[in-house]
Amino acid sequence: MKHLIDPFDLSKSEIDEIVALGEDIVAHRDRYAGACKGKKLATLFYEPSTRTRLSFTSAMMELGGNVIGFSDARNTSVSKGETIEDTTRVISCFADIIAMRHPIEGAPLNATRVSTIPVINAGDGSHAHPTQTLTDLLTIKRELGRLDNFTIGFCGDLKFGRTVHSLIKALSRYEGIKVVLIAPEELQLPGYMKYEVCDRYGIDYMEVDNMESVMADLDVLYMTRVQKERFLDEAEFERVKDSFVLDNAKMALAKQSMVVLHPLPRVNEILKEVDEDPRAAYFRQVENGKFVRMALIVKLLEWAKQDPAVHFNGPSDAIKGEYVCPNRKCISNVENVDHLVRRDENGELHCVYCESKIK
Ligand code: NCD
Repeated sequence: MKHLIDPFDLSKSEIDEIVALGEDIVAHRDRYAGACKGKKLATLFYEPSTRTRLSFTSAMMELGGNVIGFSDARNTSVSKGETIEDTTRVISCFADIIAMRHPIEGAPLNATRVSTIPVINAGDGSHAHPTQTLTDLLTIKRELGRLDNFTIGFCGDLKFGRTVHSLIKALSRYEGIKVVLIAPEELQLPGYMKYEVCDRYGIDYMEVDNMESVMADLDVLYMTRVQKERFLDEAEFERVKDSFVLDNAKMALAKQSMVVLHPLPRVNEILKEVDEDPRAAYFRQVENGKFVRMALIVKLLEWAKQDPAVHFNGPSDAIKGEYVCPNRKCISNVENVDHLVRRDENGELHCVYCESKIK
C-alpha cells in the first residue's frame, strides 16, 4: 500500500505524475467530477487547520466522493486515551483513504503500521507537510513554467516550519535548484535537514540573515510564519517573531518575474500592500492546493488497488532497540510504539519517526 507520509515517499516521476494530473484537472475540471464516486475520505485533524482540511474536503467533494472525520480530537475517543493505531484500525473500517494532521511527529507514520487504506500526512508537528509541498510544486510549475533550474529563498521560521522541510526534500529530486536560507540564528534549518538532506542530495544552499542582499537573485520567495505554537520558550518567540517582513520596498529589489509563495496563514510577515503585486501568488497557491489534493487522492486510490498489502511505511533498514528520541514531541515518547532508528552514511543514528539525531 502506498502512503504519503514524507515527500521522499514519492519518486520524481510520481511527483511529476501528480503535478501533471493537477494541471489536467485545472484544464478539464468536469472530467473528474465522478472520479471518486462512492469513496470516502476521513479527515482526522488533531491540530487546528483551515486550508488543509477544507481543501481536502473540497477536493473530495469535487471528485464526487464523501468526507467523514473530525477537526477537534477532544470530541473523539482520543480523549479517552485511544492510540493512533487503534483509531486508524477503526477508521479503516469506515473510509477509503485517510488525511491525518497531528501535533506529534511521526503519528501518521505510525498509523501506516495497521492501516488497510492509504494514509496522507496532512502535517505532523514541525516535521513534514507533503501535501503543502505538492501544492507549492503545482504553483511553481504554473507560475514559472518549470520545476528545475531556479533559485528559491526560504524566509522566516526554517526551524519549525514543516512546509519548508518538505519542499526542500522534494526539490532535491530536481536539477539546478539553488536554495537561499534567510532566517535569524534562532530559526535556522535543523541540522538533519542541512546535513542529511541538503548535503546528502547535493542541494546547493547558502544561509543569510537579511533579505535585501539576496532579493535580486530569487526566482521564488517562500515566506513563512514564525510557528508560535512550537516554541517551548515564549521569550524566545517574542524575540524573533518580527524578524522578516516583506513589503513593497523589498519587492522593488526583486525580479519582475519573481513569485512570492506563502503556505498561509500569514501573521505580519507579508504586508497587505504586497497582495496587489502580480508576483504575489499565495492566494493562487491556495486554489492549487485543492487541485493537487484531488490529483493525489485519485492517484493513491489507484495505487492502493494495485498494491493493497498493509505494511509499515518506515525505512526498510530500520533497527529496533531501546533508543530514546531526544524530541519530546516525537510519537516514540508519547505512545507505546516500537523504538526504531536508522543509521546514516556517517554511522549516526536517527529516529525513524521524526528524524532527530539519537545521541
Ligand atoms: C502551514 C502548516 O500548517 O504547517 N499551513 C498550511 O498547511 N497551509 C503553515 C503554517 O501553519 O504556518
